Amino acid sequence: LRVEALERLKEVSDPNALSELKVHYLGKKGQLTEILRGMGALSAEERPVIGQVANDVRGAIEAVIAEKQEAFDREETARRLRSETIDVTLPGKKRAEGLIHPLTKVTQEIEDVFLGMGYEIAEGPEVETDFFNFEALNLPKNHPARDMQDSFYLTDEILLRTHTSPVQIRAMRAANGRTPLKIICPGKVYRRDDDDATHSFMFHQIEGLVVGPNIRMSDLKGTLLQFVQAMYGKNTQIRLRPSFFPFTEPSAEVDVTCAQCGGSGCRMCKHTGWIEILGCGMVHPKVLEYGGYDPKEVTGFAFGMGVERIALLKYDIDDIRHFYNNDLRFLGQFARM
Ligand code: PHE
Repeated sequence: LRVEALERLKEVSDPNALSELKVHYLGKKGQLTEILRGMGALSAEERPVIGQVANDVRGAIEAVIAEKQEAFDREETARRLRSETIDVTLPGKKRAEGLIHPLTKVTQEIEDVFLGMGYEIAEGPEVETDFFNFEALNLPKNHPARDMQDSFYLTDEILLRTHTSPVQIRAMRAANGRTPLKIICPGKVYRRDDDDATHSFMFHQIEGLVVGPNIRMSDLKGTLLQFVQAMYGKNTQIRLRPSFFPFTEPSAEVDVTCAQCGGSGCRMCKHTGWIEILGCGMVHPKVLEYGGYDPKEVTGFAFGMGVERIALLKYDIDDIRHFYNNDLRFLGQFARM
């Protein structure tokens, strides 16, 4: 048995055959086990002798199997090392890197400017109630100014917000009378416009609101000047033109000096030297009341700007629809800006 086993083991060339032989000789039903099991039938003199021999044989077989197993393991490791070798000289696979959308980028820049002035960022729902979108902003039902912003109504009382101004009311109510309140609110707004180069049924606004004791129009003007100089450069100037919004009084439209021509007149500013960028004003007393403030104790200013408009001007883009078409040739240009 010993000679036969060692002979067969020597010829084994793969791990499967080795484990088969291991079972064959040493397993529960293996040949050696059978011999050892038969020991009971032997006489007292024979037993230790045969036992000794059987144990020697088992030892020898086990040693050879262990040796073989080790050799197979070494081979397996070597084979795996060979097949898993990485050729570090091969050129890497290029991954297409994502980049920030220009509107997101401009929004973040604007946010940064106001965060630097101590403002907090607020948000509100895009599906809004008539109350927050109009009523609380001093636009009662049948007010003609509601037509300024043709709306998408979902029900009689619920619509897609037409501006970010409803967040003014929400932020004031959340502040519970606390002053100063300084927030900006970026977000999507919706209007029933036919899409063209300068209009879109959906676009982005950033609302600003400051409420506190003795907030004045000069604070508004100074804040906006700071802002445009941070966005467009130190030499940028602003001018305020009287305007009308139901939720601010007085109201103004703000122009910046045209960055393209420096004020001398070009295509971009329609040869006026000025470009309109936002609407603003002193918060109407009724709006402060709707927000839970006493207009005899606090005043405030608010402004609202279109992000697309700011971005169009900043990058000299001629069609608002570029922002929504997801053409990578367009979007890719802003990776380096
Ligand atoms: N909500 C106004 C608009 O969408 C902009 C605005 C905001 C004007 C705040 C004044 C104050 O046109």
